[in-house]
Amino acid sequence: MTALATAAGAPAADIAGRGLLRFLTCGSVDDGKSTLIGRLLYETQVVFDDHIDAVTRASRRHGTTGEDVDLALLVDGLEAEREQGITIDVAYRYFATARRKFIVADTPGHEQYTRNMATGASTADLAILLVDARKGVLIQTKRHAYIAKLLGIRHLVLAVNKIDLVGFDAGRFAEIEAEFRAFVAGWDFATAVAIPLSARFGDNLVAPSPRVPWYDGPTLLQHLETVEVDEDITAQPFRMAVQWVNRPNLDFRGLSGSVAGGRVRSGDPIVVTASGQATRVARIVTADGDIEEAEAGQAVTLTCAEEVDASRGDVLAPPDARPEFSDQFAAHLIWMHETPLFPGRPYLLKAGTRSVTATVSEIKHRVDVNSLSHLAAKELQLNEIGFCNLSLSAPIAFDPYSANRETGGFILIDRLTNATVGAGMIEFGLRRATNIHWQALDVDKAARARLKEQRPAILWFTGLSGAGKSTIANLVERKLLAEGRHTYLLDGDNVRHGLNRDLGFTETDRIENIRRVAETAKLFVDAGLLVLVSFISPFRAERQMARDLVEAGEFIEIFVDTTIDECRRRDPKGLYAKADRGQIKNFTGIDSPYEPPERPELRLDTVQQTPEASAEAIVRHLRDRGLLG
Ligand code: ADX
Repeated sequence: MTALATAAGAPAADIAGRGLLRFLTCGSVDDGKSTLIGRLLYETQVVFDDHIDAVTRASRRHGTTGEDVDLALLVDGLEAEREQGITIDVAYRYFATARRKFIVADTPGHEQYTRNMATGASTADLAILLVDARKGVLIQTKRHAYIAKLLGIRHLVLAVNKIDLVGFDAGRFAEIEAEFRAFVAGWDFATAVAIPLSARFGDNLVAPSPRVPWYDGPTLLQHLETVEVDEDITAQPFRMAVQWVNRPNLDFRGLSGSVAGGRVRSGDPIVVTASGQATRVARIVTADGDIEEAEAGQAVTLTCAEEVDASRGDVLAPPDARPEFSDQFAAHLIWMHETPLFPGRPYLLKAGTRSVTATVSEIKHRVDVNSLSHLAAKELQLNEIGFCNLSLSAPIAFDPYSANRETGGFILIDRLTNATVGAGMIEFGLRRATNIHWQALDVDKAARARLKEQRPAILWFTGLSGAGKSTIANLVERKLLAEGRHTYLLDGDNVRHGLNRDLGFTETDRIENIRRVAETAKLFVDAGLLVLVSFISPFRAERQMARDLVEAGEFIEIFVDTTIDECRRRDPKGLYAKADRGQIKNFTGIDSPYEPPERPELRLDTVQQTPEASAEAIVRHLRDRGLLG
């Protein structure tokens, strides 16, 4: 909404030199959040008259306040929000008073929108937690306070709204305030205050309300105008993540990005964290010409005295205050998706300008936000918060989140859907990774394969139980052996008797099952073998992970495409009958999902075609790909 996107109406001269306050509001759908923001904007006079006209008209149509202007409608016109009665995305709004400028991230409070809070909050100085005076502190109020703490927000306001609906009762307010104080005690917020107010009628928002004479604290706006925010990221060591290498012509080469911490001057020594290459800053170039010094928040291009190898994702830092550099760390993770977090499943991790593949290797504990106790967990559900170890496909440069929110924060993305599924705050790097190095070996995959006179590969059979995977894999292995090929067959039932005997059939266990067998298959490829893998392997994400472990062309996904009805009819081990009687839980295709491959190298129809013909088709395919020489 452009009309509100400026601080028009605030005399520029008055606010020059005053601090900026970034804050966010969180609360439940009905707590009156939009009304609160709407009234703040309205009372600070930044809403244009013509916009108010429009709102007056809209509030007659959509509003819930009769003939009064519904101030909630001032707060952005996301149609979906109006229609559903919930806020669905983070929206930033700007306003100003004579004393300060403000940026407010309006984040939805509906439980499933933790994601937006995490994103909206990442740069906030202060969080307003809104509660309804009739309901008081709810579990999600605690959740939001806890997330605010994790996100490094130092100032908290409990806005006890709808105080009119409890008859401006001092006792009720005291009760809520006491509960709030009890749970934030010891959390180390710089300030935490509770303010009784009515967003709808404006009590204690801007002017002190005569209807709460027993309250002698500041109004909400007075507090926002005066709270001292001390965080100064320009005092941190210099950090800049390279966004791109700017090379318009042969005479100019600069490293472009935003300064993520500290300051940098021309002449300063810097290093590229990953390689340790050192140089000095020659020039600091901006859109408005060269500058002598840049500080956190500025977008600049640095040219270097000596050429260094740096590319997107590299982090520049002073030689004597480098970030950590590791492929394993411990972090707090806020899970934001309906599909739970499973340890072992690969996700895309984005930190600054860097993207790598990451898995959670261990959930150390899950936090119960109500009692703050640590619980054991095998997965994290939507909105749950856990403390986890993460393992990355390559090392990245980072700082603990407490030292630098930008270089210490990351998000996790689902690799198949591209949805943001988690937000993380790094606590510390794990040393154990640093003392284990790759041992260089003289005999390599190529040498081993040469001796066997073959090209190694994985034949990955996937499909329902009873689809025919093992029968066909067995036939293929016999044919390959008859041709003098070196093979190995990893079969689900067999591997589950040994290496994977500790695993059952929950999603978490199946993911670990496939992770281990994929790693084993990779070792066998390294040994120069043709590896046949016959596992249900029901999830796309793990089959993709297995594919990514080996080189392009070394992974052949064979979808043994037999319908569940046909598998049930065959039922070679009597398992479908048992599952139907409820004697086996989490049975694939019945009460546990199977995600068919989208682009398998081969698809076999086991109804139309005998196992022998399917095995022939596979050998032919291998020959066509040149794998059999
Ligand atoms: S996977 O899903 O983790 O890939 P895997 O291939 O190792 O499964 O094991 C599947 C075999 O275990 C099936 O062929 C069947 O014989 C047996 N089994 C026992 N319980 C289950 C179950 N709940 N779901 C699927 N298969 C099961």
